[in-house]
Amino acid sequence: MATKPAAVQELESPSPETTPDVSLAGRDLCSVADLTTTELAGMLALAHDVKANPAAYRWALDAKQMVMFFEKASLRTRLTFQTAMNTLGGSALFVDQTQSPLGERESLADIARNVERWVQIIVLRTYAHETITEMAQYASVPVVNALSDLEHPCQAIADFMTLEERFGNLRGFNFTYVGDGNNVCHSLMLTAALLGAHCTVGTPKNYAPKADVVAQARAIANVTGSNIMLVNDPVAAVTGADAVYTDICTSMGFEHEATKRAPIFKPYQVNEALMSNAAPSAVFMHCLPAHRNAEVTDAVLDGPQSVVFDQAENRMHAQKALLLMLLGKGTKCL
Ligand code: CP
Ligand code: NVA
Repeated sequence: MATKPAAVQELESPSPETTPDVSLAGRDLCSVADLTTTELAGMLALAHDVKANPAAYRWALDAKQMVMFFEKASLRTRLTFQTAMNTLGGSALFVDQTQSPLGERESLADIARNVERWVQIIVLRTYAHETITEMAQYASVPVVNALSDLEHPCQAIADFMTLEERFGNLRGFNFTYVGDGNNVCHSLMLTAALLGAHCTVGTPKNYAPKADVVAQARAIANVTGSNIMLVNDPVAAVTGADAVYTDICTSMGFEHEATKRAPIFKPYQVNEALMSNAAPSAVFMHCLPAHRNAEVTDAVLDGPQSVVFDQAENRMHAQKALLLMLLGKGTKCL
């Protein structure tokens, strides 16, 4: 564990105008919909401040412990949570569950009742979303969804942070997602709705987002004044978009469907021709990892409109804000 230098007291505090006046202390983040618009806006404001002033938060989570149980592979999520926690003064413990699903050796409730005695926050990457909601139910410390088959909230929060950096306030922004309407798409829809951005989702038939998540996003959108639209035509989805987002066609856990899915998703490939229908100032987004020249061409992924590595960087800053807020340090640091 890093040691706290004596000079820490002299470090600059975050500017009050960017410090959110919302508290998420002790809360879980299983879904983006666990947040209100005000809470999400507060988290994004803190994320921007953490990115601009990392030294001000260097010891904000001094001696805090985070455990990460991952049933699926990860590069970005694992490393950005670890780097976030380490650079806030805390420690991250990683437990590889790829060979033994959580709950197999002992019950989720018993895992929770052990782990909460040692650590201050639990981060889970799972297949079943219920593994995360059950752990949240049993654990007395915050539980964070680091991707399930249903949602990827940390990704979506970082992605809308990236959009705010480029475009400012996103009310009325035209966000488009094309591809598989699953976990990443679900969290993006909910985040767009909370922030008052319009969200168009273009998927093949039978790969639309889940009806209950669409209904949830639309209920939020009714309040924030945005529209959630579902289409099957990729050109219609992208036309006039300010941001075009895609994800792999075959998510983790669905590998056995890869051959069947490839031709179904081919018309949804984000290439230069499809991008030409978007606004000239539109950005291209992807959560990564990308399957190059499958769901997106090299020309788009590596092209001038791509912000994919800004998204990857912002995973760390956004997760710092999330950790600070769930651990009760979001409004007062050091
Ligand atoms: N985008 C994302 O979650 O990447 P990893 O699967 O590498 O964590
Ligand atoms: N939809 C993808 C996202 C990976 C970050 C998956 O679930 O595999």
